[in-house]
Amino acid sequence: MARSNFAVFASGRGSNFLAVQEQIAAGNISGDIVCLISNKRTAPALEKAQNLDIPAFHKSPRQFENEKSYTNDHIDTLKEYEIDYILLAGYMKKIPDAVVQAYPHRILNIHPALLPSFGGKGYYGMRVHDAVIERGVKWTGVTVHFVDEVYDHGPIIYQWPVRVRDDDTPESLAERVLEYEHKAYPKVVRWVSEGWITAEGMRTQYTGPSEEWDI
Ligand code: GRF
Repeated sequence: MARSNFAVFASGRGSNFLAVQEQIAAGNISGDIVCLISNKRTAPALEKAQNLDIPAFHKSPRQFENEKSYTNDHIDTLKEYEIDYILLAGYMKKIPDAVVQAYPHRILNIHPALLPSFGGKGYYGMRVHDAVIERGVKWTGVTVHFVDEVYDHGPIIYQWPVRVRDDDTPESLAERVLEYEHKAYPKVVRWVSEGWITAEGMRTQYTGPSEEWDI
């Protein structure tokens, strides 16, 4: 199978981006991150990409006349870099519907909880872990899913549970969940690049070797 071209969209520190990049460098993913887009000029992810010689772009709606030119600019960049898959890694802006429609089952997102719980608008960053602790659930975890037009909603590809301890703070929980994010996201990117994920409606199927499932 030909190598895939990935675009990463990130708004923050970019640790999931680096986790995927490490597995690419280790030869475990048949593809390359060929550009990174951030809606935040000051996102550390932009600098991390530049340090790796990955073309990095700051694109914010404010730079464009209207929503349409903003969206078209994204699509132009994605076409220019011949992108096969978009990897959202802590990207805080909603993906325009036209981009979602241009890349069906080709946009991945990672969410730091077990969807459909603790997801959707307003559940981002530390707010997710605050809500998990406040509600008193005993398990949280990691979800990797395809992106559709609704926040945190598309077909789920992979989930891994993380125990909530009685003495957890939102910060301690976030740290523990993040360790699993860094294992789960590169794993799913590998599966997708190997062609091991099929999707129909809201359901996906993993057709890879069973020993690769567990973290
Ligand atoms: C992660 O917790 C991810 O699940 C969420 O945003 C955070 C991004 O962290 N969508 P990083 O920028 O990858 O370090």
